[in-house]
Amino acid sequence: MDEKEFFDHLAPTWDDNEVLSTPDKVRFVLGFMNLKPGQSVLDLGTGTGVLLPYIAEKIGTAGHITAVDYSAGMLSRAKEKFSGLTPTPEFLEMDLEQDNIPGEYDRIILYCVYPHLHEPVETLRWLHKVSLKKGGLISIAFPSGPEFINNVHREKHSESDILPSADELARTFRLNGLDAKVAHSDTDSYIVNIYK
Ligand SMILES: C[S@@+](CC[C@H](N)C(=O)[O-])C[C@H]1O[C@@H](n2cnc3c(N)ncnc32)[C@H](O)[C@@H]1O
Repeated sequence: MDEKEFFDHLAPTWDDNEVLSTPDKVRFVLGFMNLKPGQSVLDLGTGTGVLLPYIAEKIGTAGHITAVDYSAGMLSRAKEKFSGLTPTPEFLEMDLEQDNIPGEYDRIILYCVYPHLHEPVETLRWLHKVSLKKGGLISIAFPSGPEFINNVHREKHSESDILPSADELARTFRLNGLDAKVAHSDTDSYIVNIYK
């Protein structure tokens, strides 16, 4: 089973097993992204769309949301749940590492996605260059610290999907020319922001 099929397989039970992304936690994490009314937001690896209503709450009716995932199973759950949301999200079945995602965005969010990338630094540099507006922000975020994420991946025998500490990740980005800062990091959440 490849990774896309793996996520397709998980899609029907994803929401029942997602216990960390409580409304308070998601709002807390989004609080570090300086989301404002009218912004355009790209939610990469949207999954079943866990962030979408909370992004909508922040950017309001004048905002725009594009939700991307390469798993048809995950994306169809997101569409079922949130096609009626205001603003109505645009759903794109695309590979964020391989495909050219149309448009430029004020905010690009990768929530619980980073460890699944194959060429993470190159991907982030490309997104920063072509998909992020000047003055915009890319956020790499999780509803827990790296220890929890890494234990989950170890249990699933995905040792390659290891997440470094927030300090280490920000440092790696800076060494690769990106203006990265740790916005918050403790056992309950992890947010690294990259500015343009
Ligand atoms: C751990 S899930 C997180 C989903 C959602 N953000 C959440 O927190 O519930 C990772 C998601 O990223 C998607 N994904 C991983 N690599 C991707 C890629 N290269 N292109 C598009 N989607 C990808 C998977 O299909 C999956 O839906």
